[in-house]
Amino acid sequence: MIEEGLAGKTILITGSTGFLGKSLVEKLLRSVPSVARLNLAIRSSSRRSAQERLEREVLASPAFRRLKEELGEDAFRRLAEDKLAVLELDLGRPGLGLSEAGRAERRLLNDIDKKSTEATRKATLTTAKCDIRHTSVV
Ligand SMILES: NC(=O)c1ccc[n+]([C@@H]2O[C@H](COP(=O)([O-])OP(=O)(O)OC[C@H]3O[C@@H](n4cnc5c(N)ncnc54)[C@H](OP(=O)(O)O)[C@@H]3O)[C@@H](O)[C@H]2O)c1
Repeated sequence: MIEEGLAGKTILITGSTGFLGKSLVEKLLRSVPSVARLNLAIRSSSRRSAQERLEREVLASPAFRRLKEELGEDAFRRLAEDKLAVLELDLGRPGLGLSEAGRAERRLLNDIDKKSTEATRKATLTTAKCDIRHTSVV
């Protein structure tokens, strides 16, 4: 039921470097393969960019051990590249602390999302199998 509800959806996740957030990302990757994309809101630290934090603090965490064992490292890497996108932002700062590059990235993700939604809608109308209502939070 949860999987059906999230199929094809793009989800914005905050707190993915934290204890609960990592578990949520892992659970969605493992149990909801039909989810379209997980946009992870991660702030940079003084030592690392948000992308580096994804690699070193999230994906390298023991929370993903089971999924890596089930899929193998290569397939896990492909899954992460396919489903995860980093939005470098700080929820506590004005304008979410987005740099111009971050704003451009957000526009790009929005654009991609709209195009994929449109493609999904057309395919759905063609096959007339079901009614797609795609919700995107970016
Ligand atoms: N753990 C539990 O058992 C439990 C139980 C009930 C409720 N909760 C609640 O659930 C929430 C998450 O818990 P947790 O254990 O996962 O906490 P956590 O390990 O401390 O993680 C907190 C997460 O929030 C992020 N964050 C904080 N301020 C941010 C900001 N300004 N911009 C972007 N990201 C920000 C942190 O990012 P950084 O890494 O950048 O700091 C981190 O990813 C908390 O509100 C907690 O009170 C937890």
